[in-house]
Amino acid sequence: MPDMRQPIFYDTTLRDGSQALRRPWNHEEKALIFNRLVALGIKAIEVGFPAASEMDFKSCCSLAKKAPMDVIVSVLARAVPDDVVKAVEAVKEANHPRLNIFLMMNSLGVQHVLKKTMEEVTQMAVSSVELAKKLLPPRGEIEFSVEHFGDCQDNLPEVLDALEKIVNAGATIINLPNTVERTRPSEFVKLVCAVKERLGNRVQLSVHCHNDLGMATATTVESFFAGASQLEVTVNGLGERCGNTNLFEVAVALYNAGISIPLKMNQFYYTACFVADMAHIEIAEKAPLMGSDCFVHRSGVHQDGANKTKSLFKQQYIAYPPELIGRMDGEKFVFTNQSGKLALQLLCKQNGVTLTVEQLAMLMPKAKQLAAEQGELSALDLKPLLDEVVNF
Ligand code: KIV
Ligand code: ZN
Repeated sequence: MPDMRQPIFYDTTLRDGSQALRRPWNHEEKALIFNRLVALGIKAIEVGFPAASEMDFKSCCSLAKKAPMDVIVSVLARAVPDDVVKAVEAVKEANHPRLNIFLMMNSLGVQHVLKKTMEEVTQMAVSSVELAKKLLPPRGEIEFSVEHFGDCQDNLPEVLDALEKIVNAGATIINLPNTVERTRPSEFVKLVCAVKERLGNRVQLSVHCHNDLGMATATTVESFFAGASQLEVTVNGLGERCGNTNLFEVAVALYNAGISIPLKMNQFYYTACFVADMAHIEIAEKAPLMGSDCFVHRSGVHQDGANKTKSLFKQQYIAYPPELIGRMDGEKFVFTNQSGKLALQLLCKQNGVTLTVEQLAMLMPKAKQLAAEQGELSALDLKPLLDEVVNF
């Protein structure tokens, strides 16, 4: 049976993404990105951490007031009374206010960072959720994030007991972060399943993965199939260290798996470029989906397969059509010493010449020799060799 659930994309670019920038965004910049996310169709946006700075507090207040009716505005708070009070103050005017209260529960953090017992940590979490419930307007909701959940393999039974109490206190969304990606996707998914088994449908399950080993997309996608419905992501995977789960990668992976994506996917490329400019972080040429090399074929074998399947629904050497994500540059066949006849003929055509089979065979070794010496050839690079063959 196909999975008919739609994922809820919860975007934390303005919080986890911004906090990891060399210069975190100011309010005007956040407002521009917020509008872009709304235009994309994102319905849950974490706009900041009000206790982090006065600027963040004011920005959260303003975005909460301006957000469209159908968008959840979430703000982050540590599980301490001052943070909760400040966060409620910042978000309370939103149509859909949410507090995301977080606290670490892995043994290492509980023992060496918080220097508390698990009972004390559970009590901190429960009291914070109770306080938030008391202060938030009735339309508000509470998400609880188990920081370092991916590292909770050794104390999982205690964490599950704590979560039960946190849900009883009023949290309706339980977020499971892989705060540092030490745990591989299948192991993380087992942990997600354990929470699902314990809490059932009483809560909405969410995952929030970081990308230290480059597997955040895989972990997030597989967690969706294990029952997580909210997926916490950022644009271009911005975030602490190697970043958070990349929104676009997850959406396209789920789309390819037959899941309906409630976003304007044809605005992905534009949004990626927009946020890359705002962050002053260039998109790498090999970056999945958005890199300049995504649809460039260099080897002769790939060029042949790509060409023979270019009019089919499913193509041999691209995982999705470029237009799906709003890329109009499409597939490219370029010429290096690894390339084949097709790419060479294309380069000749760019010079206004169509060669015969014999002429092409004569040109090929010369072109490969030149490409071996200087790398990928442009139409201009090829011109002197082409003149030789045509005038032979
Ligand atoms: O990575 C993390 O654990 C977080 C939490 C604060 C949600 O960002
Ligand atoms: Zn995070």
